[in-house]
Amino acid sequence: MASVNESELQDIELELFVRALQRRHGYDFSEYAEASFRRRVQNLLMHFKLRNISQLTERVLHDDASIGEIVARLSVPVSEMFRDPDVFALLRTEVLPVLASYPHISVWQAGCAHGEEVYSLAILLSEAGLYDRTQIYATDISAQALAVAREGIYAARELRTWAANYLRAGGAHTLSDYFHSRYGHIKLDESLRRNVVFATHNLVSDAAFCEAQLILCRNVLIYFRQPLQHRAIGLFHDSLVRGGYLCLGTKESLSFTGHADAFTAVDARAALYRRKDYSHAA
Ligand SMILES: C[S@@+](CC[C@H](N)C(=O)[O-])C[C@H]1O[C@@H](n2cnc3c(N)ncnc32)[C@H](O)[C@@H]1O
Repeated sequence: MASVNESELQDIELELFVRALQRRHGYDFSEYAEASFRRRVQNLLMHFKLRNISQLTERVLHDDASIGEIVARLSVPVSEMFRDPDVFALLRTEVLPVLASYPHISVWQAGCAHGEEVYSLAILLSEAGLYDRTQIYATDISAQALAVAREGIYAARELRTWAANYLRAGGAHTLSDYFHSRYGHIKLDESLRRNVVFATHNLVSDAAFCEAQLILCRNVLIYFRQPLQHRAIGLFHDSLVRGGYLCLGTKESLSFTGHADAFTAVDARAALYRRKDYSHAA
């Protein structure tokens, strides 16, 4: 019988956990960056007060009710409104004027977490007079995160940061024009949700599904290994019109994905790219 130490045992348990999630529920985390994935599995053990990963695997196999929470906690739904305000300022000045030349605008926000960026985009488009002719597809792997996003209700303690972000992003009013406050929470205006479709979509296994002029997928690829980043960028390429814009997170880039030649960088620091083969006037 081969002897294994504690860390080798954990490797085996982790492998079996990932396999169980994939085979039993179709969620494949095998191409996620290892260090951060391991941290999130450890957090799950603490959350469920479990002694080892095998007990978590047991839940995956036999307790369907906990899958939503397991996926939500493995996939880090952390965000804020107008996160990286300079990027939103750039979208306002560089991208929206080009989008304005389309009679109908489609935007895909992949990995939308609790919807903070979706509503930020809706505000941006609305202030540019474009929201009425825009459809936003907001997707995420986590059904739990999407349920929060649909509600559009957030803790009021976030407001100071978000209001400052909004102004730095070139906001034309004050953020409070877009929500109602109640009992320590804010609820975003219903009108911002009017043209948003929230849907589950897994960048690991699902196909391209729209023809968008703008795709935002920020702070998602950092959790993926390179082959999975490559797959996701391929999906975005196939889902963009020619000349369409792709905006990644500021710590992300498409340089190493094998798709770099299909895009030009509009602003590399903001990770804002444009699909080549322009057929539409800039
Ligand atoms: C850190 S949040 C980013 C939220 C927002 N885009 C931002 O930058 O503030 C990462 C989001 O990606 C989602 N995600 C992780 N893996 C995914 C996958 N395979 N397909 C779709 N979404 C995924 C998570 O559920 C989470 O909501």
